[in-house]
Amino acid sequence: MNPDLNHLHPYPFEKLAKLKAGVEPPEHLSHIALSIGEPKHQPPAFVLDTLSQNLNRVANYPATKGLPELRQSIAQWAEKRFALSRGQLDPETQVLPVNGTREALFAFAQAVVDRTAEQPLVVSPNPFYQIYEGAALLAGAQPAFLNCTADNHYIPDFAAVDPNIWKHCQLLYLCSPGNPTGAVLTLEHWRTLLALADEYDFVIASDECYSELYFDEQAPPLGLLQACTELGREDFSRCVVFHSLSKRSNLPGLRSGFVAGDASILAEFLRYRTYHGCAMPVPSQLASIAAWEDEAHVRANRDLYRQKFAAVLDILDGCLDVAKPEAGFYLWPRTPVDSETFARELFAQQNITVLPGNYLARDTETGNPGDHHVRMALVASLDECVEAAHRINKFMAQYEVSAL
Ligand SMILES: Cc1ncc(COP(=O)(O)O)c(C=O)c1O
Repeated sequence: MNPDLNHLHPYPFEKLAKLKAGVEPPEHLSHIALSIGEPKHQPPAFVLDTLSQNLNRVANYPATKGLPELRQSIAQWAEKRFALSRGQLDPETQVLPVNGTREALFAFAQAVVDRTAEQPLVVSPNPFYQIYEGAALLAGAQPAFLNCTADNHYIPDFAAVDPNIWKHCQLLYLCSPGNPTGAVLTLEHWRTLLALADEYDFVIASDECYSELYFDEQAPPLGLLQACTELGREDFSRCVVFHSLSKRSNLPGLRSGFVAGDASILAEFLRYRTYHGCAMPVPSQLASIAAWEDEAHVRANRDLYRQKFAAVLDILDGCLDVAKPEAGFYLWPRTPVDSETFARELFAQQNITVLPGNYLARDTETGNPGDHHVRMALVASLDECVEAAHRINKFMAQYEVSAL
């Protein structure tokens, strides 16, 4: 067997299942899961209709590169969303459909990393989406982590990173808006990062799967393609973005997203994908076109999250050390006791599941940035989220306010 498989860490939810094993929550309280980042709002009916009306299209093999009309509608969506000029993103060479960003983020490292180089590194934020690490390990690279803490407002000081890391870095994963912190990279961050990528010759993979969940309709989060354009880098060299319908359109089971950016990198990625065998079924591609071409359901989706954040934060105000994120659907509160004790006790006393922050992060010389944090996904219904917030409020009464 591939010995690198032994380097993979157990998935956070495996650790969570162990943590909860044997704990008996009160029977009179229904279980509320704030642990999994799976959207629970209704998927748009017109997308499901398109899917079912085209089921007969499974009679043909789909092409890895996807239908031209899907790449066209993605390019148009991205140009509009990220204020690119019309025709700037070439659907022929700069866009590829993927079966959700998880698959693509993993596959990308397999195509990009040169395992014959000296000490290949894949750099990522810490805490982070665990696929980045597994992708690095199975591509023959070592992961290196940049801590995101309250002190740095959950965005590392990229210019202060040891140059030795950048020297060996082949691929940098970033997540903006971040999971779990919700932090959004600014133009200045991108300026610094692009200069580093040029100087040290690495590729940037920008995971933007939460980009459509934001609060201010007038201020959507900046994406890397937009930053490139604003910085005069119209060809997106070294840059690839990852987008998904899972969170934007409540379609996590459709497995549909796209990558876009540097044409020379995407040509090689397509070569890799042809062998990987991950073409998107045609009915899913047609349903995806319908989803990318509609914004009304995405605005309605944001409205639901807005209501939930407002209600929940109002109830948690003063009892939990938590702030509204810049975007996304997670809360990332600090906990008065260690993350695991907090999560286990909250489950034991209130039948609520949250994810201990240290399961999403790795230990480093300066500590584990997930310690004393938990992740709460506001994916359930408004009523359930409000009920959870009331129970958390009650739960917090046992802790000294000074411990916050
Ligand atoms: C940061 C991040 N990236 C990527 C994904 C994968 O999403 P999908 O494969 O559904 O596009 C997730 C899902 O939770 C995520 O949190």
